[in-house]
Amino acid sequence: MMGNDLKTLVDQVIVARKSIRAFLETSIEPDVILDILDVAARAPSGSNVQPWKVYVLQGDAKDRLSEELKDVFNDPSKSALHHPEYTYYPNTWVEPFLSRRRKVGFDLYKLVGIARGESQKMHEQHAKNFDFFGAPVAIIFTIPRIMELGSWLDYGMFLQNMMIAAQARGLQTCPQAALINFHQIVAKHVGFSSEEQMVCSMCLGYEDPLAPENLIETERVRAREFTTFVS
Ligand SMILES: Cc1cc2nc3c(=O)[nH]c(=O)nc-3n(C[C@H](O)[C@H](O)[C@H](O)COP(=O)(O)O)c2cc1C
Repeated sequence: MMGNDLKTLVDQVIVARKSIRAFLETSIEPDVILDILDVAARAPSGSNVQPWKVYVLQGDAKDRLSEELKDVFNDPSKSALHHPEYTYYPNTWVEPFLSRRRKVGFDLYKLVGIARGESQKMHEQHAKNFDFFGAPVAIIFTIPRIMELGSWLDYGMFLQNMMIAAQARGLQTCPQAALINFHQIVAKHVGFSSEEQMVCSMCLGYEDPLAPENLIETERVRAREFTTFVS
């Protein structure tokens, strides 16, 4: 392939990827999932340590996990007993991050008809995370606890590779931090040991083209605004 065609194709796939929050039931063959993971694993990692470990849930195994997660999430006395595996977000939000976070939240709520202050409906929308937004495949990612911050950099590259490889195959994804609050439940269902730390989960499937939540268009700050050419 000529250089320009390749650039166009790679850029198109990267730009086309977006988080999907309503999937079709259409199942995915294990070989397709393994193929995507093999490509993703070409991600670089410091000293080539490849710190990723992946658990794929479909069918009954996925449904059993969903049921317990929803049961706990919907019962404050149960969910109060759970704590996140790690802190993903700052305790105190400052600008410009606060506004960006609010914008994506309110844009999503607007698309699904949730008005400001409708906290029960917001709770229900968040609960869809635990149904993996209807995706036929739920993927759980772990890292050995002994690994340090550097390996989390490697992990991000692996995850992005996965999402791009899926997109190139006509499949969509939604990375999820929502489940790290309930990592002990996930560990029990998936069967990973206390020596592994949950990084996040990801939904994989075909996007529902009729779902309003999939119409969300997130913005990005232009490179000129966050880049300094030092001379
Ligand atoms: C590590 C990670 C965790 C995320 N967790 C969630 C989540 O729990 N639920 C959700 O709906 N979206 C989640 N997102 C999706 C982000 O909201 C989304 O990436 C962001 O708004 C940019 O939109 P885009 O992915 O469509 O480009 C997560 C994204 C990342 C990278």
